[in-house]
Amino acid sequence: MATGIPKTQSQGQAASHFSDSKLNNNLDACFLYPGKMPASEILKTDRAKCVKLWSKSEQPSLANENCLYYGDNLPILASLMEDNAVKGQVKLIYIDPPFATKSVFQSRSQTDAYSDLLSGNNYIEFIRQRLILLRELLAEDGSIYVHLDENMAFYIKVIMDEIFGQRNFRNWITRKKCNPKNYTRKTYGNVSDFILFYTKSDIYVWNRPVEEWTDLRANKEYEYLEKETGRRYKKVPIHAPGARNGETGKPWRGMNPPPGKHWQYPPKTLDEMDARGEIYWSATGNPRRKIYLDSSSGIPVQDIWLEFRDAYNQNIKITGYPTEKNPDLLARIIQGSSNPGDLVLDCFAGSGTTLSVASELGRRWIGIDNSSEAIATTLRRFAKGCDRMGDFVSQQASLQDNLPDTESRQLSLFNLEESRLSPESIHEKNEMINDFALYAVEARAWELEEIQKQWIEWQ
Ligand SMILES: C[S@@+](CC[C@H](N)C(=O)[O-])C[C@H]1O[C@@H](n2cnc3c(N)ncnc32)[C@H](O)[C@@H]1O
Repeated sequence: MATGIPKTQSQGQAASHFSDSKLNNNLDACFLYPGKMPASEILKTDRAKCVKLWSKSEQPSLANENCLYYGDNLPILASLMEDNAVKGQVKLIYIDPPFATKSVFQSRSQTDAYSDLLSGNNYIEFIRQRLILLRELLAEDGSIYVHLDENMAFYIKVIMDEIFGQRNFRNWITRKKCNPKNYTRKTYGNVSDFILFYTKSDIYVWNRPVEEWTDLRANKEYEYLEKETGRRYKKVPIHAPGARNGETGKPWRGMNPPPGKHWQYPPKTLDEMDARGEIYWSATGNPRRKIYLDSSSGIPVQDIWLEFRDAYNQNIKITGYPTEKNPDLLARIIQGSSNPGDLVLDCFAGSGTTLSVASELGRRWIGIDNSSEAIATTLRRFAKGCDRMGDFVSQQASLQDNLPDTESRQLSLFNLEESRLSPESIHEKNEMINDFALYAVEARAWELEEIQKQWIEWQ
């Protein structure tokens, strides 16, 4: 595998062209489309007027209370910008917005849940306006994950580069969303969607997710056994790319680092490592570093995630809300990019997957959705938990008559193929979640009357 030298260390024009001052939030390329509003105008968005419909706490408002909002997220996000307990305080944002599928989605009970009819520039600008406000709410060490599919992910990547800065782009995560399908179109089967991960700065909360070693993988990766200790290890080079003038460029035990390289440690440290038996010497006298299996906390997670398909098994528990995401997927993101007590926000909250997993993991949360079915589903999940998927197969009514049958089938998130229930799932327990306040935008509060009554009965 070729190893490049970071541009900052290379000589000449390329290094100056990519200097830090050029790599701020301004792209060298610019994405223009009709209807793109100036960011300054978006930041002036009218603030929503919200009324509190229910709260566990008797106190009028608590700075650290979890909040579920009903209404369009744009004016609600604008009003949260006025709240010092929220502005610049959100550690983690996960959003799973509509994907521009030109479809109306129904819940398991055939009730209309939400429509996803925006497309093209209108869609891009819809997401961009929300992202601009979300950036204001994000803490300096905060992270944002945006879940999309192949329709719009590329456009929104460019928009996110503009808003958060290319230098704050961390990963393009590919998720396997479902099992292979009987696919009749003349293309490869489509089983992936994508999560764009950005941070607000280069200092951000990061608890590296790892997978446990299996014996098979450990023995393959750490192929050597240390006779004296029985410890398993692998050998890695002791030098790194790039020449250096300091200590690490000097000879060690009479040996210079290979041309164009430097020692990974100063000679004194290498001596200490050797004294502890951590250097392997080949028969020809070449040193290599030993890395021990027992010093590894696990296999670092990479950017292809295969284990978080949405409901794929009749035993999986779901709310029945269309497009609801796998709670284990949210657990990985929340654990990786926030700590207990941190504030997590999802302004396309749907069935409340993010909110309920955030609660389970001891994070505070803010959720927003403008579908009453989403609020009803979230409250039911909070009170009653989820139900086994059983024989249900999701139905979505495509509004487009000319949408090919295979395409509408593509929208089905549920696949009845038998598969193993994830043993690590933390979502089997059904504890009531009621430590939050429910708000609605004033003009639409009446729409939640029945839902509110039901919730109060469940208390
Ligand atoms: C793909 S679903 C989210 C599903 C969610 N991740 C889950 O696990 O259940 C998108 C959600 O965004 C909501 N939504 C769409 N436009 C919105 C807006 N302008 N303001 C608030 N919510 C909106 C829809 O009602 C829908 O519930």
